[in-house]
Amino acid sequence: MSPQSLVLFLLITMVVATPLRPGFYSETCPKAELIVRDVMKKAMIREPRSVASVMRFQFHDCFVNGCDASLLLDDTPTMLGEKLALSNINSLRSFEVIDEIKEALEKACPGIVSCADIVIMASRDAVSLSGGPYWEVKLGRQDSLTASQEDSDNIMPSPRSNASFLIDLFVKFNLSVKDLVALSGSHSIGQARCFSVMFRLYNQSGSGKPDPTIETKYREKLDKLCPLGGDENVTVDLDATPTVFDNQYFKDLVAGRGFLNSDETLFTYPATRKYVLLFSKNQDEFFEAFAEGMVKMGDLQSGRAGEIRSNCRVVNRRPVDILLESR
Ligand code: HEM
Ligand SMILES: *[C@@H]1O[C@H](CO)[C@@H](O)[C@H](O)[C@H]1NC(C)=O
Ligand SMILES: *[C@@H]1O[C@H](CO)[C@@H](O)[C@H](O)[C@H]1NC(C)=O
Ligand SMILES: *[C@@H]1O[C@H](CO)[C@@H](O)[C@H](O)[C@H]1NC(C)=O
Repeated sequence: MSPQSLVLFLLITMVVATPLRPGFYSETCPKAELIVRDVMKKAMIREPRSVASVMRFQFHDCFVNGCDASLLLDDTPTMLGEKLALSNINSLRSFEVIDEIKEALEKACPGIVSCADIVIMASRDAVSLSGGPYWEVKLGRQDSLTASQEDSDNIMPSPRSNASFLIDLFVKFNLSVKDLVALSGSHSIGQARCFSVMFRLYNQSGSGKPDPTIETKYREKLDKLCPLGGDENVTVDLDATPTVFDNQYFKDLVAGRGFLNSDETLFTYPATRKYVLLFSKNQDEFFEAFAEGMVKMGDLQSGRAGEIRSNCRVVNRRPVDILLESR
């Protein structure tokens, strides 16, 4: 292949960015949304927590160079991806559910549906299958050609974050204070490790004491589940109804029973408290704000050229790779 035709080939195989819109696959893969939902339903029956784990992917993907499935790339000898980044290592799980969705879609319409769109559809379904709101998703994203552990480390917030730090972080992504509080309501489903709460229980801000905002009975319960020096991989429910997407999470925060520091601080900090109170009293307001926040977060794009991966874990082989391999 001549250099000129190689360049041409690369340009053609890299899809040109188009605006995101609902129904993007209605002609090319009309069953795409049904197929995603079907695999998510099966995953939920097999393991209830898996849908929460999949829903979390949208946040961790979209905040790091846009919603481009960079999160899903496995490390290679030349690329440290995001899977082993600080917020993800020993924590993100259920990648196999995405693989199953991709396989089903490749069977039905090969080379059409991006992994980045799969993450967006699957997150929506995780929420609605758990009793939360349903919303229309915009589609047409492309999959990244690379991923960056460093970018993830620099961007993703720690469970120790306070509300004022989180407000500033979310503003950088055009997400409002209301969006931050609503989106944190994702912790209405799923679990976290003792690792993420140990410092709160035994050494808040280096004091050697527990965080005083934790309600006493709840703290005693956490002390038993996560004893000092115990296994930090043990998992604990993020709210009192961890398989139901509802506003229990906000009721828990009001009662001092938020698990993460980043959760409880939304109630103790004045600028976020009013939304915690609103959502704790009015589930419809929470559902509406959550769906709106997810759509806004789903709009984040890197602006870089991409492709439709055939396996969500690896970039497609390009003509240039094939040339290099044959040398
Ligand atoms: C506001 C800042 C946020 C922080 C600091 C944060 C932090 C965390 C942490 C530390 C965990 C537990 C990890 C572990 O212990 O292994 C977790 C779990 C989770 N996060 Fe967040 N998160 C935030 C926002 C979000 C958003 C915006 C979403 C989705 C829209 C989300 C979805 C989830 C879900 C569903 C789980 C449970 C996953 C499972 O059970 O596997 N989080 N988060
Ligand atoms: C919130 O966290 C930031 C960054 O860690 C810190 O600089 C700030 O002092 C904290 N604010 C409050 C009110 O604790
Ligand atoms: C936020 O919105 C502004 C104005 O619409 C836009 O220029 C900017 O790129 C957006 N930032 C992100 C991270 O999407
Ligand atoms: C938690 O589990 C991971 C692997 O699943 C392991 O590498 C790590 O050492 C464990 N951490 C602790 C504190 O036991």
